Amino acid sequence: MSILWGRVCTDRDVMGGTMSTISYHEKRNTWLLEMPTSSYAIALTGELRVPRHVHWGCPIGHETAAAIAASELRQNVEHIAWAEEDRLECVGWGGRRYDEPTVKVDFADGTRGIEWHLAHDEVTRDGDSMTLMLALQDRAYPLRVELFYRIFDDTDVLERWARLIVPDHGAAVVVRRAFSANWWLPERGSWRLSFLHGGWGNETQLERRAFGSDKHVLESRRGTTSHQFQPFFALDADGTATEDHGEVWSGQLAWSGAWKIIGEQTAGGHVHVVGGWNDFDSPIVLAPGDELALPVFTGLYCQGGFGGMSRAWHDYELNHVLARPGRTQPSPSFPARCHNRAASESLPRLRPVLYNSWEATAFAVDEQGQRKLAELAAQMGVELFVVDDGWFVGRRDDRAGLGDWHVDAEKFPRGLTPLIEHVNQLNMGFGLWIEPEMVNPNSDLYRAHPDWVFHFANRARTEKRNQLVLNLARDDVAEWVFQTVDGLLSSHPIDFVKWDMNRHFSEPGWPEQSGANPERAWTAYVENLYDILDRLHDAHPTVDFESCSGGGGRVDLGILSRTRQVWTSDNTDAFDRIAIQKGFSYAHAPLAMMAWVTDSPNPLTRRELPLAYRFHVAMAGSLGIGGNLSEWTAAEREEARQLVGRYKQIRPIVQHGRLFRLLDLARDDLAAVQYVARDDSAIVVFAWSGARHYRTRPGWVQLQAIDPTASYRDRETGMVHAGATLQALGLPLPASLSFASMCVHLERLG
Ligand code: GLA
Repeated sequence: MSILWGRVCTDRDVMGGTMSTISYHEKRNTWLLEMPTSSYAIALTGELRVPRHVHWGCPIGHETAAAIAASELRQNVEHIAWAEEDRLECVGWGGRRYDEPTVKVDFADGTRGIEWHLAHDEVTRDGDSMTLMLALQDRAYPLRVELFYRIFDDTDVLERWARLIVPDHGAAVVVRRAFSANWWLPERGSWRLSFLHGGWGNETQLERRAFGSDKHVLESRRGTTSHQFQPFFALDADGTATEDHGEVWSGQLAWSGAWKIIGEQTAGGHVHVVGGWNDFDSPIVLAPGDELALPVFTGLYCQGGFGGMSRAWHDYELNHVLARPGRTQPSPSFPARCHNRAASESLPRLRPVLYNSWEATAFAVDEQGQRKLAELAAQMGVELFVVDDGWFVGRRDDRAGLGDWHVDAEKFPRGLTPLIEHVNQLNMGFGLWIEPEMVNPNSDLYRAHPDWVFHFANRARTEKRNQLVLNLARDDVAEWVFQTVDGLLSSHPIDFVKWDMNRHFSEPGWPEQSGANPERAWTAYVENLYDILDRLHDAHPTVDFESCSGGGGRVDLGILSRTRQVWTSDNTDAFDRIAIQKGFSYAHAPLAMMAWVTDSPNPLTRRELPLAYRFHVAMAGSLGIGGNLSEWTAAEREEARQLVGRYKQIRPIVQHGRLFRLLDLARDDLAAVQYVARDDSAIVVFAWSGARHYRTRPGWVQLQAIDPTASYRDRETGMVHAGATLQALGLPLPASLSFASMCVHLERLG
């Protein structure tokens, strides 16, 4: 017998239900978390009932969980018997442990090891989710950790996070490492690691490595998520998973500051991945009564290859992560105050087609120029007009102005309101760029508050792009940021904010905090940033936010839970974008991925590409236009108008549909992706070629998720395709042409 949430049941009952369940088997001492197509099992072992990992993978019952636990115990005793081979759910460093710990602390008397015992466990249900909480207590010292496991009815994504607590009667504890979770992988011969690497202008490049006996570290020490690595990993056994088949274990950290994910194989051959806040330069002092809420580290087991994995992440992001108006319930899901499942919207609202002025005008924005661009954009069917950098006082280039968020009276003598009214009359929403976490030394703000930036005594204040980072860890600075943005939004009818952050931390000093844990700035900064965004959402629920950080430098589940979309990359070259967008799609939904059509030749790469090609690449995400429309010919503007109209027809399929990656540029010289409407009523296929040799193969692309008994009509040509043919042979590609593209919209006829 096992105790299921709210009722008593047998093992057989627990299997195969439609609702996800969490159950405890008293005799076997196993906790079992059952998600739609996967299970996670924990055993409580020994007198101390310490939670030990048993299983993360295919669906199992309590009996199997107990059998796995027993056989592993036997094997460890017989063969290895390292203390670390016990695969603890929360590895507290101490004893004979040599694996990467989840938590490491110094107690006041100099003791540094942890010895946990289980103090309490409980399960709660909240709407469509259930949460298991396991509270561990150190055997001798007043330190407690609460481990949370949250599952949903509609996804295999398991959210894990932890809370460290020093009770009122305790003594201060120095936390040297506080990771959110520890993911143990099952026994397999070998593993392959997939991760997303990059830099400014080439974000989210997919890389793969054999996962051997060496340690793999993915991290950011930059104070923000960074372009260098996404807080994402995927592991498949023996490197055998393909796009469509095979088991894949993956994870993502919901944190927008410095982070670290370590993958290792223990001496006994167990593979695990630990991660959370970066422990570099980050001891945290917890005084009696203090609590530390650690960010969510999500995990996903999937049997459908990398394609299945991505679709599961996309669904999770659409259903549970992306910010949307009407957020009401605070949730522990993403610690702090954020919660995103709104009663008002079942899926996030479709993203409007936007225009952004940056590549057209750079800092030279003014009322006349923006009015002109707005009129041209409106003629093309743009729905949201965004004024980028340069609108505020003193901002002629990147050397001055950040911090002084007042409208420049020379550029906008009548303020922003007449421009906003004009934009609204043209039937478009209005958006504005800001970078409120930053300051130029050449600004009134810095002259008044030089102590508000990160700095160390007797050290240079290193500038990047002529700017310094405001210390948001300080509550007074965070309050100023909130008041400033709140003031802008309260005094103007603004629909959209592009929130930028163009440099990483350096000299992250907090002198006012000297002697009292100034290193806490790394994490307190992000906690306050989240708090500001949450308060702005509450105060201005209809305003949409986009996260930008020199392109895609702050893309992660934490920021996505407080924004609706991200600026994917400052590189708008459509050909380069194909690889960036592929990597992005491993972890994040197309709806969140902003993609602009810009000028040709591209300002960054000087590559010339046809307008339709540039559109077809940008139409694979949330479409924007960022070119200098005044220089586009009338014929180009007309073609753009038609392509925007086409995008609006396919938008629900791209933004809310299911994505299949069909062909890969790196392998096929040609990339193709397919989107399938939620109700299977329509399909969209994009293909883009690179530099190709004449008659290069493949010449056709087979489609996925097709009903072979149905017919499909091409909405543009009217041609009807048999489903069986689309499945067996596929659609013809622009096979012999270099830098050619296609966009096919098929309607299912029945
Ligand atoms: C960053 C952004 C760009 C643009 C500029 C403005 O680089 O990524 O899109 O907003 O800042 O300075």
